[in-house]
Amino acid sequence: MKLRQWSTVGLVAVATIATLNTVPATASRPYDPTTQSLGTLGLRHGLHVGTAVSMDALNDASDPQYRKLVSSEFASVTAENVMKWESLEPTRGAYNWGPADQFVDFAKRNRQSVRGHVLVWHNQLPAWLTSGVADGSISKQELRELLRNHITTVVNRYKGKIWQWDVVNEAVSDPWDTPSTLHYKGFWAQNLGPGYIADAFRWARAADPKALLFYNDYNIEAFGSGNPADDKTQFVYDMTKSLRAQGVPIDGVGSQGHLGTQYGNFDTLQVTAALKKFSGLGVATAFTEVDVRSQLTEGVQAGNSEEINPRLQASAANFSVLMKACLAVRSCLSYTVWGFSDKHSWVPGWFDDPPEGLATIYDENYQPKRAYQELKSDLIFAGPPYVLPRIAPKPRR
Ligand code: G3I
Repeated sequence: MKLRQWSTVGLVAVATIATLNTVPATASRPYDPTTQSLGTLGLRHGLHVGTAVSMDALNDASDPQYRKLVSSEFASVTAENVMKWESLEPTRGAYNWGPADQFVDFAKRNRQSVRGHVLVWHNQLPAWLTSGVADGSISKQELRELLRNHITTVVNRYKGKIWQWDVVNEAVSDPWDTPSTLHYKGFWAQNLGPGYIADAFRWARAADPKALLFYNDYNIEAFGSGNPADDKTQFVYDMTKSLRAQGVPIDGVGSQGHLGTQYGNFDTLQVTAALKKFSGLGVATAFTEVDVRSQLTEGVQAGNSEEINPRLQASAANFSVLMKACLAVRSCLSYTVWGFSDKHSWVPGWFDDPPEGLATIYDENYQPKRAYQELKSDLIFAGPPYVLPRIAPKPRR
């Protein structure tokens, strides 16, 4: 399959390099890649290294380092919350485009690619929608129409400005859910049946012929048993294969990459194998929300370096496993961290009992951590024959 899109990826790469933190080599100062940003180093491979962006932090005048690093270190950005339904349409029919417009304009000014997050998810839905369904004032038929209208309206507004859309997010259950046999979960499957997934991709495609349309989920970094009844990666693989066979315009699968150092996790070869298997379906892949958290034991909270160091090193190792695997597979187009500083991370607020944190690549004072350095070295030392330029699929009609 000759993938014409390579030239386009190259174009985006060139434009983006223009604003990133690049230190030009001179006669007296030979080229030192360690001074380059993750964004610049990623684009050497056509890989977009990105971050989730909190608009509250971006607009916080007392926190200028946040905005500086977002614009200078990363080639791609994802809105952490302001492009979610509850933010875009808090009141039925009354759209709150301001924060999302500001986010997209900010990316455009920095010539950064944008991952649109998220069109269809069971979380962060507006209360008027969920309560309307709950009290029966919104019928199933009307709900389906509301979903189509939401996707069409949002995708139309940002047509041509979004590189990748997370069309559907976290539609598949986990082995710890009830029933434990994997199934389609959540508000949309319960109210519309799993057919909403194919509908959502078709509606998004109708609104933007060029955006790459992704299914996004967590705990799909590598295959397990290979049985879709308990292996979530296999379930998502089979779902993607089935959607492709139906002619549904799904272009990619996003693996969120929310890991914890207390878990077994995966090695680089396992993750590479998974990306290659998805690539075999003709879809692109991406790591879309990478962070690697650790348990904040009393020792860690007390600043005990003997407890902190192994966690920082384990976190760095896991960030690097995903990066090395992504670099090794040409259809892995982007690597996005879900927040880059421990000062602005969703982890401590979500995982508070027992407390977890230390999940990102910069510390609370915006000092690069071991994880940042390991990602940088992965990007610097990568190259042929195992790491080659990215190949993006043509958006499926
Ligand atoms: O905006 C309100 C604010 O008005 C209020 O004062 C404040 C206090 O409660 O809450 C604010 O809303 C919070 C919102 O983030 C914006 O900051 C919500 O409580 C909080 O639950 C929400 O958390 C987000 C979470 O998704 C919600 O599910 C996280 O920031 C965000 O990082 C997280 O991101 C998700 C991805 O979208 C999908 N994959 C998993 C990932 C982590 O959960």
